[in-house]
Amino acid sequence: MTENNFIFDDEFVISSEGRVGWKAPSNIALVKYWGKKPNQIPANPSISFTLDACATTTTVTYKKLDKISSDFSFDLFFEGKENQDFKPKIQTFFERIDKYVPFLKSCHLKIETSNSFPHSSGIASSASGMGALALCVMSIEKQLNPEITQSYFNRKASFLARLGSGSACRSIEGPFIQWGKYGGIKESSNLFGVSYPFKVHSNFMNYHDTILLVHKGQKTVSSTVGHELMHNHPFANQRFEQAHNNLDKLEQVFEKGDLNEFIKIVESEALTLHAMMMTSLPYFILMKPNTLEIINKIWSFREATNTPICFTLDAGANVHVLYPEMVKEKAIQFIQDELVVYCENGHYICDRIGQGATKIA
Ligand code: DP6
Repeated sequence: MTENNFIFDDEFVISSEGRVGWKAPSNIALVKYWGKKPNQIPANPSISFTLDACATTTTVTYKKLDKISSDFSFDLFFEGKENQDFKPKIQTFFERIDKYVPFLKSCHLKIETSNSFPHSSGIASSASGMGALALCVMSIEKQLNPEITQSYFNRKASFLARLGSGSACRSIEGPFIQWGKYGGIKESSNLFGVSYPFKVHSNFMNYHDTILLVHKGQKTVSSTVGHELMHNHPFANQRFEQAHNNLDKLEQVFEKGDLNEFIKIVESEALTLHAMMMTSLPYFILMKPNTLEIINKIWSFREATNTPICFTLDAGANVHVLYPEMVKEKAIQFIQDELVVYCENGHYICDRIGQGATKIA
């Protein structure tokens, strides 16, 4: 599929008003997307677990304008209050998707959005936020063209979400989503996420992700700046190649349910992401002392008890603690006894693998 498959060029008659709504989850990458080319094309393929509890709920009420406007007309309400701060990001998103959804300019939109997690938690809301908004836009398209198939709907939602934030294209469906052209998956694409097509062992069903909120402040590196750091990075090519290799290795790991090998790949990916930031110019350290305390505690506990528990990181200080359903009680006890002390105000979020977005209106 190419970009052209997503251009909406039918005649359309928009109804005078309507309301659509979606709840879209966040996701956590196992093989990380870090580095991009123009038009939100990833420099390497990635794969993620779709989450369940961390999600954004968005409704869009649209009203037909008397004539098509030259710019987008929208109001934004975040957690019940009118919000100006997020408007530029949405304006940019709309500009990027204009060509594919030209009907947006013929309505005024009232966007109401809220997150299931506190805004100040340091959890990036761009994946779930752009995912939910892209799905709302697709619901409007579906009202104009009821013939589109479910698979086209999801694919285009992922395509649009990617133009808002790369990782958002992995927040439409679940439970495992791969994004970025990769030789091992023939349907893979740089333009949208696809469901992981191969066998996944029961060890990975219901996997848990307990997110330890080590530092709730704003990230010191925005993802835009972060991806930029991979341009002319001395290790860029090796890193991009490594992502392909890790995806190759994961195929066997998922099939066999090999938790030890899974842990090696996932932790190495997390540390490589941070290593890329530490070795770029300018360089950054996004881990906090407590991030390292947690990592060391996880390693000691794993060694001492043989429990298949591991961590991954985003571009920030928070730690995602990953473990299978079969060790849930043991893992939660360990987290409460030994890790929560390193969280800001003792805050953490218990999440797990989810099935993707749900329609709410
Ligand atoms: C470290 O998707 O936030 O979480 O495309 O610029 O919006 P933009 O970047 P974004 O980058 C996410 C980076 C990451 C790894 C990942 O989710 O794969």
